Amino acid sequence: MLAVHGGNTEEIARKYNLNSKEILDFSANINPVGLNENVKAAMINAIDKVVKYPDITYFDLKNSIGEFEKLDISNITLGNGAAEVIFNIVRALKPRKALLPAPTFSEYEEAIISVNGEIEYYKLKESNDFNLDDEFINKIKDDIDIIFICNPNNPTGCLTKKEFIRKVLNKALTTNTTVVIDESFLDFVKPNELYLSNDLLIDYKNLIIVKSLTKFFAIPGARIGYGLCSNNEIINEINKVIVPWSVNVIASEAIIQGLKEKDYIDKSIVYVKNEKEYLYSALKEIDSLKVFEPSVNFIMFKLLIDLDLKSELIKRRILIRSCDNYIGLSNSFYRVAVRTREENNKLISEIKNILFDK
Ligand SMILES: Cc1ncc(COP(=O)(O)O)c(C=O)c1O
Repeated sequence: MLAVHGGNTEEIARKYNLNSKEILDFSANINPVGLNENVKAAMINAIDKVVKYPDITYFDLKNSIGEFEKLDISNITLGNGAAEVIFNIVRALKPRKALLPAPTFSEYEEAIISVNGEIEYYKLKESNDFNLDDEFINKIKDDIDIIFICNPNNPTGCLTKKEFIRKVLNKALTTNTTVVIDESFLDFVKPNELYLSNDLLIDYKNLIIVKSLTKFFAIPGARIGYGLCSNNEIINEINKVIVPWSVNVIASEAIIQGLKEKDYIDKSIVYVKNEKEYLYSALKEIDSLKVFEPSVNFIMFKLLIDLDLKSELIKRRILIRSCDNYIGLSNSFYRVAVRTREENNKLISEIKNILFDK
């Protein structure tokens, strides 16, 4: 069974006999500013390169990422999306037991299961708005080989401070545990110095950071992501399991260009911040919703009445993410992406129509 994710508009269109282009997709968390024009041009230009294999060392791409992250290229591992990087890490390290907060992004669990690893879940508490707390650190024991922390967490939006991560890393050093921090959405937060783990990399050889490039640059169909680690042994183990040429030339050229687009990057951060606040305030005004404070381009809420909101919205050609398959949540929880003002207004008015009709 494949894990359930947002963004499956084709599958939903087939199920409900709709045209996928008619569906307004709030289920995948993609930068609402959309594809940058220069990135698009770079991808179109890259078409001529498909007759050759990508540079197997990805020298130019790694240099662009290295410059962006202010890190040596030997610390970078690439993948066909952050999802592949997560699987590469797990296949390389073959953890026997993992500690995962719940709810969180499901591919950590999928990756651990793929190597027959055992999982201990740390249930985040709704009473604490699903934030990580010190009790989590007490769960790091000698038998835990790997920990994943999603920062900010998908789907809750909770941010974890770097100082908490430092405490996790210190405890993990005593138990020989590798700590993976997934910062796939952290570039949407500015300033983010309080949360970024990047400058812990040199001191902590048990730290791996994972980042997706598909959310921010609005290229989920092109697939590209990376991992960062200063421990040569871990990078070497990952290199042993990497599928050669797994990043295609089109995605690679898109990112080499994208990381240069400072105006687009700054504009996206401001746009997402404003629309997130707008959508959050509007949703909070609806009595039957309990809305959790968002940090980036998605918002989780709990529906306080008994209703299948996802099915009701799909009748109106709007797709949202039901959180029913997240461990630690139930079918009362939903996640919506932050989109453009017009689209956000459409979502708000359709939710109100449905709930006020009840
Ligand atoms: C927290 C998190 N990490 C990683 C990924 C995978 O991203 P990619 O498209 O780069 O594989 C996702 C996708 O939803 C995600 O939410």
